[in-house]
Amino acid sequence: TGQSPPAGPADRNAPVSLSETAHAKINLTLHVTGKRPDGYHILDSLAVFASAADTLSYIPSGSPLSLELTGPFGQTLATEACDDNLVIRAARLLAEGRTVEQTGRVILEKNLPVASGIGGGSADAAATLRLLDRVWGLNTPADRLHTIATRLGADVPVCLAQKPARMGGIGEQLSPAPTLPDCGMILINCGEAVSTPAVFRARVNTFSPAASFPASWPDAKTMATDLARLTNDLEAPACEICPAIRTVLTTIASLPDCRLSRMSGSGATCFGLFDSPDAARTAAQALSSNPTAATWWIQAGPLASRSLTDVTQKN
Ligand code: C5P
Repeated sequence: TGQSPPAGPADRNAPVSLSETAHAKINLTLHVTGKRPDGYHILDSLAVFASAADTLSYIPSGSPLSLELTGPFGQTLATEACDDNLVIRAARLLAEGRTVEQTGRVILEKNLPVASGIGGGSADAAATLRLLDRVWGLNTPADRLHTIATRLGADVPVCLAQKPARMGGIGEQLSPAPTLPDCGMILINCGEAVSTPAVFRARVNTFSPAASFPASWPDAKTMATDLARLTNDLEAPACEICPAIRTVLTTIASLPDCRLSRMSGSGATCFGLFDSPDAARTAAQALSSNPTAATWWIQAGPLASRSLTDVTQKN
C-alpha cells in the first residue's frame, strides 16, 4: 500500500509516522463587542475543547506534500481544491523561509462536520502546524507559530493552544479561562453547513459588553447558571439562516438533566452541558427514540476541564 508502519522504540532509524488530534472547539459564550474598520468583528468568547476530534497523520514519502481525506466527513471536503485546504496552506506558511523538504502524505481523518461552528478547519490547520513542526524538526518559536496561526484564521490560535481560553480581539488574543469543573457535553449538528461570513452579515448591528468570569467554577450547575446570563450573539442570526438550529436547541434543552443549551461559534453545531460525561451520554441515548434526531450528528463525552491529554486518555 506504500504506507510505512509507525516507528517503534526498537526501530529508531525507521521513518517516523506521527499524528495529532484536532479537537472540536466549543464557544461556551460569544459576545460581539465591536467591529474593526476592515469588517472583522471584535469578540469576547470563552472557548473550550470537546473530546470529539479530527486526526491528522503524517506518513513520510519522497513525493511532494499531499493531503488525503478519510473519515465520515472526508467526502464533504474532497470537492474543495486541495491547494485551498487550510492544512496545505498551514504547511506552506510553516515552511516559509525555512529549509524544509515539503514531502510526505498528510492524512486527515475528518470526523467533525464541516462549516459547523466547532472550528474543524481551524483545528485541522492548528494540528498541522503542531504536527509538521515536529516532523520537520523546526522548533518554531511560539510567537511565530501564533502569527502564522492568525494569518490562517481568527480561530486558529486558540486551536493551536487547544486548551480552555478566553478569546479577545478577532479571536487571536488569548487569555486564561476560569478553571472548569468536570462536566459532560453533548454536541448536535443538524447537517446543514452554515457560512460564517453570512452569519456575521445577518447580525443586527448592536454590540454586547465584555463578559466577566470568576476564577473558577466549583461544578457544572454553578457554571451553567453563570453562563446562562451571557450569550452567543451569533445564535439568533444563525437561526434565521438555518431554522433547524432552533429545533436542535429546543431538543437539547428538553433532555433530562441538561444544565444549558447553546450554539457554538457561527453554528450550526449546538451543545448541552451536563453534570458529568455519563449524564451527557445518557441524554444522547434518550435521543435514539427521536425520529428527527436520526439524521443528526450527535456526540457525547467529557469537556476538557484541565488538559486534553486527560480527556483523550479517558476515552
Ligand atoms: O478568520 P476566518 O477566515 O476564520 O473568518 C471567516 C470570516 O468570518 C471572515 O471573513 C469574517 O467575515 C468573519 N469573521 C468576523 N470576525 C471575526 C472572525 C470572523 O467578521 N472575529
